[in-house]
Amino acid sequence: MKVNTIYLDNSATTKPYKEVMQTFMAVNEQYYANPASIHAMGVESNELLMRAREQVADILKTEAKNVLFTSGGTESNNTAIIGLARGNTHKGKHILTTEIEHPSVLESVKQLEKEGFEIEYLHVNAQGVISLDELKAKIRKDTILVSMMHVNNEMGAIQPIFEAATIVHAESRAAFHIDAVQSFGKLPLTFNGEEGPDCITISGHKIHGFKGSGVLAFRKKMQWQPYALGGGQEFGLRSGTVAVPQAVALSKAARIAVETMNERAEKYRKWQQQIRAELGQFGDVVHILSTPESAAHILSFSIRDLKGEVIINALQKYGVIVSTSSACSSKQTKTSHVVEALNIDEHFKKGVIRVSFGAHVTSEDIAQFILAIKKVLMELKGELLL
Ligand SMILES: Cc1ncc(COP(=O)(O)O)c(C=O)c1O
Repeated sequence: MKVNTIYLDNSATTKPYKEVMQTFMAVNEQYYANPASIHAMGVESNELLMRAREQVADILKTEAKNVLFTSGGTESNNTAIIGLARGNTHKGKHILTTEIEHPSVLESVKQLEKEGFEIEYLHVNAQGVISLDELKAKIRKDTILVSMMHVNNEMGAIQPIFEAATIVHAESRAAFHIDAVQSFGKLPLTFNGEEGPDCITISGHKIHGFKGSGVLAFRKKMQWQPYALGGGQEFGLRSGTVAVPQAVALSKAARIAVETMNERAEKYRKWQQQIRAELGQFGDVVHILSTPESAAHILSFSIRDLKGEVIINALQKYGVIVSTSSACSSKQTKTSHVVEALNIDEHFKKGVIRVSFGAHVTSEDIAQFILAIKKVLMELKGELLL
């Protein structure tokens, strides 16, 4: 791509921070020994790994022994959902999730359904938010797991996870799992003592860390069945030689994300409002899916009767990179399950575009994006706008 590419697809993945890349190189250079080895080099690697674990635990307000390093959000979600379900069958087999989860959650519960678990889905309203009343109505004494995303990856809806946690804890013995892949480092999130979620998924590459790195963290020791079996690393809970450089890099990215969170959120909100106002001028040619209450780093919109790929290609000519509503579904032709759940007008279902901000985006990039989308709208929809 050209040098002046404007990258606005940060919810698909982010460019790693320079400091994170330096950390990764330095750890690979010096601490490459297996942290499970008992020789001096292994002990040093393990010490570094433990420090990274403590740093993530500090941020989430749990203990280091409750933080597992994984290969990413998908593995963390699979591990939490399948592990917690299979480990708690003595309490019941009922599981609740929402209809707008990421495929790594939806496919996990589908697998569990084949194994005899009963899965129910919470609906969302036009803003992409669940109803706490529906949660109250659906949760049962034999519910063993509730899994919910904090921020939706396709349009940024924020779920009321702390209110939901109160209901889950009061009405059941279920574990409450949060997919925080799109919220960690963007919204405040901790285990919040006894009041919050029980289990949190984080992905490194969404916070300017590396692809192939993630965290699965618990509030306390829980009953569950390990998913990855083997050498018993990560306290016997996630086998496989731990990728120490990935783990240390993730902890560095997490610290930077939390330290810069407020300042970035302010910028992102301003940009979101600015783009929203510009798109608002195009009347009923543009439909904005994200609401003013959605997460600040995502803005999804759709152009009447236009396919997403047409808009992406047109914007690309001006050096602007955005995606269809999710990177995972961008190569599929069918409407995404999230867009279906929002129940929007048929004319706007095929062309959902997601603009997502990251730490490297500048105000100049946003100004250029606005110019580009206006030109694209005139090129492709000029007849409706004149
Ligand atoms: C909400 C959500 N959950 C899970 C994932 C999967 O994370 P990873 O790419 O690290 O496997 C993603 C990735 O886009 C996501 O947006």
